[in-house]
Amino acid sequence: MSTARSQTASAEQKKQADALTSASPEDRPFIWLDGRLVPKSQAMVSVYDHGFLYGDGVFEGIRAYNGRIFKCRSHIERLFRSAERIRLKIPHTREQIDALMRETLEANDLRDGYIRLIVSRGVGTLGLHPFRCPNPGVICIADSIQLYPEEMYEQGMAVVVAKRPRIPVECLDPRIKSMNYLNNILAKIEAIDAGVLEAIMLNTDGYVAECTGDNIFVVKDGAIITPPPDAGILEGITRSFVIDLCRKSGIKVEERLFKLDELLAGDELFLTGTAAEIIGVKQVDDKPIGSGEEGPVTKKLREQFREIVTSGEAPED
Ligand SMILES: Cc1ncc(COP(=O)(O)O)c(C=O)c1O
Repeated sequence: MSTARSQTASAEQKKQADALTSASPEDRPFIWLDGRLVPKSQAMVSVYDHGFLYGDGVFEGIRAYNGRIFKCRSHIERLFRSAERIRLKIPHTREQIDALMRETLEANDLRDGYIRLIVSRGVGTLGLHPFRCPNPGVICIADSIQLYPEEMYEQGMAVVVAKRPRIPVECLDPRIKSMNYLNNILAKIEAIDAGVLEAIMLNTDGYVAECTGDNIFVVKDGAIITPPPDAGILEGITRSFVIDLCRKSGIKVEERLFKLDELLAGDELFLTGTAAEIIGVKQVDDKPIGSGEEGPVTKKLREQFREIVTSGEAPED
């Protein structure tokens, strides 16, 4: 690098460091934005970014527990798989993505928190053409999240069945965790209109798929069933972890298609997701599930999950 360029670069670094040190508490968290950490008020993206214009991009929601990034490698792999499926080239290696998440957590003194990692198509022209966006945008936010009130975890939550089906796999494969969540948001609006916080989504063949932001599990006679990936679901990382946890505890898990009647006849129902973790469902529409409160299998799994993630040894693989 020429002397002039290296002077400009170090002046830029100094400016960045000064902006962080002088940031007010309202200007936190610091956001990792295209290669540097900036205070929240300076974390802006262009209105020409195709992530903003078209929802063209991919993302991950990840939790950190006790300084460890839960299932970090699985999240990074899913991010790269999602990006490949929309032919978006992430401008970093997996190691760099791992490092920038840790840097963001550290800059915000966060040992427990929620990471939102986003790769958008980047700035382009006003047309759809994705390949006219030369530089994908990379953003990492580390903050906190609480989807549902604490007492709901002990009492179970009420949900509804959305009238709107999940987008078919042939149209937009839900295994792609894309920035385009309108299908889920419209189902979420159905839930909110009905006075609850989640909605079960069926696929266009009438099979149970997933919820707007969580995967779904039915407990029946001590065994568990959950829809398979080809039902049209996001292959949740919490879902896989819970399946492993069940199998290790000797609980039988079947991944297969089922319809609403089987779900309603379940002894227990629970949802899994990074933000939601594990939460029992006590009621679907106006029908109580099982005893109408959190069931024993759900409670055991929820407590086991909490114990593992807060142990200081949450798995990062
Ligand atoms: C539609 C949908 N299904 C399921 C999940 C759960 O996936 P994970 O456990 O990887 O967070 C999420 C959350 O990311 C989601 O948005």
